Amino acid sequence: SVEKDFYGRKIMITAGPTIEAIDPVRFITNHSSGKMGYAIAEAASKRGASVTLISGPTNLSPPSDVKLVSTSSTLDMYEAVMEHYGEQDIIIKSAAVADYRPNSTVDKKIKKQEGDLTLTLVRNPDILYELGKIKDNKVLVGFAAETDNIIEYAKEKITKKNLDLIVANDITQEGAGFGVDTNIVYLIDSGNNIKKIDKSNKTDIAHQILDKIKECL
Ligand code: C5P
Repeated sequence: SVEKDFYGRKIMITAGPTIEAIDPVRFITNHSSGKMGYAIAEAASKRGASVTLISGPTNLSPPSDVKLVSTSSTLDMYEAVMEHYGEQDIIIKSAAVADYRPNSTVDKKIKKQEGDLTLTLVRNPDILYELGKIKDNKVLVGFAAETDNIIEYAKEKITKKNLDLIVANDITQEGAGFGVDTNIVYLIDSGNNIKKIDKSNKTDIAHQILDKIKECL
């Protein structure tokens, strides 16, 4: 059996994609499967933590013993995160959040018309950045999915978003990133210590992320 080294700790994890409605039948989303976030939720729960999982739409069944809050848009997720923020010790933001949403959602289906259609997108709030601004005695962990300059961009995010730890992955590598069961990541802390985790399944990576978080507590 697993050591209950997170007993008494409250952890909130966001996972999966967000979906931004264009009209009642169409939406904008991304390729996030939610697997990494769900793996962390399951690992944390097995190690004794009280887990709140804020999840965008996925095909996964939530691990038992976690409190699941289902969300759809970024604004939904933002609201759910803020509602549960206060009581947490650790917040892990693995969700792939849309940076933009259509400026207005129309309540009737948009009809085909002559010529092209232009959609205007407006900026969504950056949930993690907002959490970084209000952070008190909590451990804040972000994710960075990159295609180039991984370490450099990840370090910039630690500073900009006031994080304690970032999990950076190169989504161009085979066996890493969206949809697959494995990942290849760098764990970078606010002291700029870098640890590479070679290709491993997401459950193993989840446990290693939690081990690293323990050092930040
Ligand atoms: O800046 P970038 O989107 O690459 O940062 C990724 C991190 O920020 C992830 O942890 C993601 O969950 C979070 N994020 C967020 N709100 C956004 C965009 C990203 O919380 N609007």
